[in-house]
Amino acid sequence: MSGKLLEGKVGVVVGVANKRSIAFYIAKAWHEAGAKLIFNYQGERLKDGVIKLIHENFGEDTPVYEMDASNDESIANFFDNVKKHSDKIDCVLHSIAFAPKEALGGSFLETSRESFKTSLDISAYSLVGIARAAEPMMVDGGSILAMSYLGSEKVVPNYNLMGVSKAALEACTRYLAFDLGRSRQIRVNCISAGPMQTLAARGVSGFNTMFKVYEEHAPLGRSCTGEELGATGVFLASDGAASITGQVIYVDGGYQIMAM
Ligand SMILES: NC(=O)c1ccc[n+]([C@@H]2O[C@H](COP(=O)([O-])OP(=O)(O)OC[C@H]3O[C@@H](n4cnc5c(N)ncnc54)[C@H](O)[C@@H]3O)[C@@H](O)[C@H]2O)c1
Repeated sequence: MSGKLLEGKVGVVVGVANKRSIAFYIAKAWHEAGAKLIFNYQGERLKDGVIKLIHENFGEDTPVYEMDASNDESIANFFDNVKKHSDKIDCVLHSIAFAPKEALGGSFLETSRESFKTSLDISAYSLVGIARAAEPMMVDGGSILAMSYLGSEKVVPNYNLMGVSKAALEACTRYLAFDLGRSRQIRVNCISAGPMQTLAARGVSGFNTMFKVYEEHAPLGRSCTGEELGATGVFLASDGAASITGQVIYVDGGYQIMAM
């Protein structure tokens, strides 16, 4: 017994695109805490880069399989592949989101029906689809974790459709927590992160100005780091959080408490 917080646990990580991805930071922390991990890549465009990154950082034999979270068959195939490596899963990270660029800037009023459907599907419904596929393998209970942002509850200019999608994601978290709690002892939570320089963040118009706002207004005078998100990810997956479910935990330098 090494005393590591996630020793003996098996984790599924959905959402690594590159070394700046929030999923990569949380995966590193889960790995250092002793968890065995199985990863996805989204599609052919990301495949080679993600597999190389995972193998360099987590070992050559770390499993990485395709999963497009907008497609139920792809989710099912992914979990069939997971079963080749483990009979059970203890923790699942959902760290994915997508909205068309034109819906992440300018006037929210102009949001198209198609963009709305796409964003809600990939950014929120996918948590339900992934949780449903993971549940039969979470035989000892466990922890499902999704990534959110403050734009779910407050207006953050330009975040627009993604704010609505994050509101849906957080509501899905609560309903899943209720469904999976009593029957399976599976906990479902969100981390609401402050701004981080990632591929997805670059899609939001004026994203760089957010850092300045956090520096000026957050109680800690800054947003968060990847390592801090990783540490919170370990806590939420560990027994220390055994009675925490359905929550949105802010890791944002305290910015969420401020009104001015
Ligand atoms: N970067 C930030 O400032 C910030 C702040 C708060 C929350 N978040 C959230 O963190 C999560 C991770 O984003 P990130 O900032 O690390 O960016 P990222 O670009 O590194 O990760 C986004 C991931 O979503 C995946 N994805 C998109 N569509 C998909 C699909 N159809 N199927 C499977 N995967 C798909 C991409 O492949 C990518 O791996 C997102 O939910 C994002 O909204 C980001």
